[in-house]
Amino acid sequence: MPLTIGIPRETAAGEKRVATVPEVVEKLIKLGFMVAVESGAGDAANCSDDVYRIAGAEIIGGAAQLWAKSDIVFKVCVPTSAEVDLMREGGTLIGFIWPAQHPELMRQLAAKKATVLAIDSLPRQLSRAQKMDALTSQAGVAGYRAVIEAANAFGRFFNGQITAAGKVPPAKVFIAGAGVAGLAAIGTAVGLGAIVRANDTRAEVADQVKSLGGEFVKVEYEEEGSGGGGYAKVMSEGFQQAQREMYAKQAREVDIIITTALIPGKPAPRLITAEMVQSMKPGSVIVDMAAERGGNCELTEPGQAVVKHGVTIVGYTDLNSRLAKQSSTLYGTNLFRLTEELCKTKDGIINVNMEDDAIRGLTVIKEGNITWPPPAPKLPAAPAKPAAAKAAAPAAKGHGHGGGSEPMAGGTLAIMFGAAAVLFLLIGAYAPPAFLGHFTVFVLACFVGYMVVWNVTPALHTPLMSVTNAISSIIAIGALVQVAPPVDVAEGRGLILGLSVAALALTAVNMLGGFAVTQRMLAMFRK
Ligand code: NAI
Repeated sequence: MPLTIGIPRETAAGEKRVATVPEVVEKLIKLGFMVAVESGAGDAANCSDDVYRIAGAEIIGGAAQLWAKSDIVFKVCVPTSAEVDLMREGGTLIGFIWPAQHPELMRQLAAKKATVLAIDSLPRQLSRAQKMDALTSQAGVAGYRAVIEAANAFGRFFNGQITAAGKVPPAKVFIAGAGVAGLAAIGTAVGLGAIVRANDTRAEVADQVKSLGGEFVKVEYEEEGSGGGGYAKVMSEGFQQAQREMYAKQAREVDIIITTALIPGKPAPRLITAEMVQSMKPGSVIVDMAAERGGNCELTEPGQAVVKHGVTIVGYTDLNSRLAKQSSTLYGTNLFRLTEELCKTKDGIINVNMEDDAIRGLTVIKEGNITWPPPAPKLPAAPAKPAAAKAAAPAAKGHGHGGGSEPMAGGTLAIMFGAAAVLFLLIGAYAPPAFLGHFTVFVLACFVGYMVVWNVTPALHTPLMSVTNAISSIIAIGALVQVAPPVDVAEGRGLILGLSVAALALTAVNMLGGFAVTQRMLAMFRK
């Protein structure tokens, strides 16, 4: 007997999202399930009862009836105690739970003999889990919306313009924290034409910031910011001091600050002080995405947009609800992907397979037994960490040679250079002079090529490859000349000539086509 998936109306104040949308209902039905939707559940997300009905769902009036009918309930917000009371004994619940913060709810659900899959507990590090990662999909939407809120509160264009009425400079945007939400905000602000800078304590995100068109601003203090699992850690007092100085400078220069800094399980780090707000130009905007977790800015009022010292500080905690249709569609798709994993037989029956790392991670209660926290998932071995001493030392000039590993690296380099010098001497002494000339050009070409490629932004690697492909065709022409026989070889000359002409024509296509494609690709990056 196929199971019924129920979609109740969200009851949290101001919540406009819904756990699935009509497009996804159709897919769930194809997987063999029946879908019941509480009347009005999708109204705030522009999904009317009628559209759900057309997609194949049954519309149920009233929460009690909906919960009673559903074998599996999909939810967005953490369920209230009253909602759990409505739940069927032995039913399944899928949605945000945050088990560490809601022990009482966990006990209540366990008493219901429920099976609970907490989408927030998904092991996000597993690449297989990415399609189900609702934290990522929701943070992406929120980051986009944060920029839109900033643009709304800001009295100017984002992009620079030269008009008959005068020149408008581009807005300068600073993004604090380049996680999922921060990266989405960078992409959106760059798309609107602003000059975007960003900072994060995890140095590894610098390339991602650059590839989105932003500039990564470093804190001049050497400290590893990764706390494991792709998350940040609380930084040392020395680092925080250096970071405050850098942020104070940025606050004076930029027009908009969007803060997204978060450390799991900790209150949001305080990055923007009242003095920094005061130092911003009048009309500037701060959007504090971490408002719900205490805020990254000292003056944020969660849920409100306030004006202090002439600066609008937006502390909305419902950015996802402000783009309810988009957030619901992505969330619904995340839950659908999870359902696919649970129902590989496509017969409307689920199998919560505790042997599967991803499923094990998010199953926090199985048939009334609390299974949270899960054991650590089996991951590929992490790359070796740099020496702890090096990580902790401040980046004072001239102090870099005190650590244990530095002289070793210097020594290895010296040996390598020595060996190369001896090799060159030998080649110089014994090789014929003609070879020596070519060899020098070859070594120089390697060096120049390396330096050129090394300095190209990762986002431009594809056009770089196509242009090098085109250039390599020129080499082919040289090669053709070399393999062509002397003119006086009479026999078969016509054939060889024909083949050479054909080869030249093909090479020319590759060469000219390569340049043309490169040109088009580069045009995509030009504003
Ligand atoms: P995330 O954990 O992926 O990213 C947070 C980033 O901040 C990480 O890259 C981390 O390295 C960085 N960070 C931590 N401490 C820092 C510091 N001291 N200085 C600079 N960077 C630091 O989190 P995600 O998913 O990107 O979410 C970001 C924030 O947005 C969270 O606070 C989340 O609660 C919030 N959010 C708010 C919504 C709203 O409606 N206001 C909706 C969705 C998310």
